[in-house]
Amino acid sequence: MSVIVFGSANADLVFPVPQLPAPGVTVLGEGVRSFPGGKGANQAVAAARDGAQTAFAGCVGRDAFAAVATQGLRDAGVDLSRLLVVDQPTGCAAICVDPAGRNQIAVAPGANLAARAAQIEDAALHPGLVLLLQMEVPPEEIAALVARAKARGARVVLNLAPPGELPEVTLRALDLLVLNEHEAAVLAGRLGCAAAAPALRGALGVDVAVTMGEAGTVAATAQGEVAVPAFPVVPVDTTGAGDCWCGVLCAGLDRGLPLRDAMRRASAAASIAVTRPGAASAMPVAAETDALLG
Ligand code: RIB
Ligand code: NA
Repeated sequence: MSVIVFGSANADLVFPVPQLPAPGVTVLGEGVRSFPGGKGANQAVAAARDGAQTAFAGCVGRDAFAAVATQGLRDAGVDLSRLLVVDQPTGCAAICVDPAGRNQIAVAPGANLAARAAQIEDAALHPGLVLLLQMEVPPEEIAALVARAKARGARVVLNLAPPGELPEVTLRALDLLVLNEHEAAVLAGRLGCAAAAPALRGALGVDVAVTMGEAGTVAATAQGEVAVPAFPVVPVDTTGAGDCWCGVLCAGLDRGLPLRDAMRRASAAASIAVTRPGAASAMPVAAETDALLG
């Protein structure tokens, strides 16, 4: 039993600002801080801290940002034997965070665009694996890896973040598609259906979970609907909350939790993550999530 995450690793440059800048506006903030980030790395850290045996496959460059981008993975004990170092700049994200914990993110993907499905060997793609992917690496590599993983019996979870184009055959092959409200609206527009989980499930024929921040999470599955409320907290930095949710969900599925329990655990963990600065560095360990679940 294990989790492999195929995705991005970024150095996050976080600018606390009094308000998020509007177009054409300059805002003066406090000092900038660097944190490990990238949706793939964040999700791998979240899964590992929740107790799953986790590996990460992706790419970083030969620059100083590589150490920042991989710090969270190394601290969490994630298997990095499938990490490649390439001749492109490490992915970097500029993140403004306002006093309410809301953010605005611009990503320069750099080395993440060198990530290849071939970094994960066939033998790793077996029925005991949960494979977790997001959209910050090339879509054709995602499509190729999903096809190979499904052919070999792995369980495949895709977080369609940020929203991007994937072949419908890839989406239809998933075991679970995870979206936030904005991503659900974009996909629904493409599919010509409503953005709610049951409508997306109807259009794609696969299980769909939609995360809605403070409004909780709804999953539409072949067995029916599962709704989980959010845990109310005062957010400091919501960056990576969705990543936390996905990583902890997959850790739960990996150890055999029913979807509802895995979703509750993921929501609890994400509510802890938003009370701390940074993305990967904010992910809770299992004991913290256990304590909140009571
Ligand atoms: O989901 C949050 C992440 O998105 C950040 O860590 C940033 O690197 C971007 O990839
Ligand atoms: Na956070």
